[in-house]
Parts: sequence; structure tokens; C-alpha cells
Amino acid sequence: MKEKFIITSLSSTGTGKTTLMVHLAYLLAQSGLSVALIELDNRSSLHDCCGLPKPTAEFSTASILTDDFDGNYPFFPLWSDALKNKAVVCQAERNSLESVSRQLTGDPFGMFRLRECLDRFSLSHDVVLIDAPGQQGQLSLMALCAATHLIICAEMTQKCISDINALFEWLYKYKTYLKSTPEILGILPSRYDHNAAIQRNTLNQFPAFAQKFNTLCFSPIRQSSRFFNAYAMGLPIFLDSPGSTPCYDFTENGHLFKKMNQSKLKGLDEKMLQKLPAIAPYIIDAIKK
Ligand SMILES: Nc1ncnc2c1ncn2[C@@H]1O[C@H](COP(=O)(O)OP(=O)(O)O)[C@@H](O)[C@H]1O
Ligand SMILES: [Mg+2]
Repeated sequence: MKEKFIITSLSSTGTGKTTLMVHLAYLLAQSGLSVALIELDNRSSLHDCCGLPKPTAEFSTASILTDDFDGNYPFFPLWSDALKNKAVVCQAERNSLESVSRQLTGDPFGMFRLRECLDRFSLSHDVVLIDAPGQQGQLSLMALCAATHLIICAEMTQKCISDINALFEWLYKYKTYLKSTPEILGILPSRYDHNAAIQRNTLNQFPAFAQKFNTLCFSPIRQSSRFFNAYAMGLPIFLDSPGSTPCYDFTENGHLFKKMNQSKLKGLDEKMLQKLPAIAPYIIDAIKK
């Protein structure tokens, strides 16, 4: 195994970053990797979508970003029965994280605070996932500085192309400040709705678009009420509706396009779409290599 993977996902709010991170945490842990998921978003959604108790300020992400942090990470086991304690979560508590983030905004080294913490108090886990916020602000910058690898979630709308261009501009702007530039693992089409023509057209162009940025396009995760329901139940879809078709979007290349009626694929490069790599095995391979 190479050096520890620290993965974050950057993109606009509501594109499915948290959903991606918790489903990845589940699948990576299931594959035998030990996972630490750190919530760096003061919207504090992990307690809902992971069915966890609400965090206190003292036992939350803010505590690891303070000067007097002693290396005792406030981890809580994630779906411990199913994952046999292979995955843990450090949750954010809104007020304390907002307050730390405000204090660090005035500090020129504030953006390195999480990186420093992970360097100083090294975690034994194989992979660290950072659930970052949507806005390009202090917390997402902190996630970027800590990460070794990035995934970009993108809804297949016209707006996402300009959002991704803006995100890359932002990444290049901060590149000079980073100790090492995180590797972009790929762009993940998220909440993909095959019934919307605009989404089909955007997806068709996406692998070429991703190539322009020297990265790849993963197999899309479909828009499905199963994700919404599982989120509300505090579970990943693999536990809330095991075996349902959206589960395979994470694990099988181009799953969504397999067995699809020819008329539904009209105008699309179906061979290319069926070959798009599924995100979970791609990342598991990269980590275990
Ligand atoms: N593929 C999907 N299909 C349907 N709903 C989804 C999907 N992905 C995410 N959602 C829902 O969209 C909302 C925002 O998702 P979330 O993962 O919190 O986005 P972000 O972290 O980027 O703000 C949640 O209610 C979630 O259940
Ligand atoms: Mg989120």
C-alpha cells in the first residue's frame, strides 16, 4: 500500500458530496480497509445521514483544530454491526466549527490546520475521507490543503460545466500555497437523471471534458429516491435497500446503461458510457496498489 490516502470531494452544495463520502466509507470498510471520516462542514449533516447522536462541541471536529488538541480524535464508530468497527466518524458541531473557522480566517496558516493536525497526530487508518462544504471558503480550503486526492461531484446540468471551470481556477489559484498538490481522481456525475435530455447530452460530452483537465469521468450515480430515503433513515443504501439497482452504480462500470433499451440510448456513445469506471473499485484498487 502507498502512503495514506486522504480524499475529499469538492463541488457546489447539494451535489451529493456527503452522500458520496458516506457510501465510500461503507464500501471501503467492507473491502477490508480501515476508514476515518472527518466532517469539515458546519451544516453538520452526518448525524442525520449516518444515524449518529448529535455531537457536542467538545467531542467534534472543532476540537481537533484548536491549539490545545492532544491527538485524542473524537471518533465514533460508523454502522459498527455491519462494518465491524472498520469505520469511524468525527462529526462537526455547527457553532464550534463556525467559530474555529472564523478565527482561522484571519490566520495566514489557518488553511493548513487540518493538514498539520493529521501530520502531527498521525491516524492508523488506511484512508481518511474529508466531508467538505460546498462554498469555496476557509473550510473547503482546509480540506484541499489536507487532501492527497480529490473527487469532483458534478450534476449533469449546463451550470456544472461553468462551476467546474470555476473550481479548477480556484484550485490553480491555491496550488502555489499547497505543500503537495492533491491528485484529482476524477469527476463523478452525481444525481444523474437519464430522463432529462440536457443531462444525457451533458454526460455524453463529459469524458472528453474531464480529459481536458487530465482526469477521468466515473460512472454516474443516478438520481433515485432510494438515496433520499436511506439518508433520512441514517443508513447507506446498501443497508437500507440492499440489492436495489442504484447500489451497483458505485460498484459496476456503466451499470446504469446495461440492459438499457436502445431507444433510450439514442444519440449517446453507449460503448463509451458502459466502460466508465465505477468509483468504488477504482478507489479501492488505487489505495491497495
Ligand atoms: N443520487 C441521489 N439521488 C437522490 N437524492 C440524492 C442523491 N444524492 C444525494 N441526494 C440527496 O440530496 C440531498 C443533498 O445531498 P448531500 O449528499 O448532502 O449533498 P452535499 O453534501 O453535496 O451538499 C440529500 O437530501 C440527499 O439525500
Ligand atoms: Mg455535504
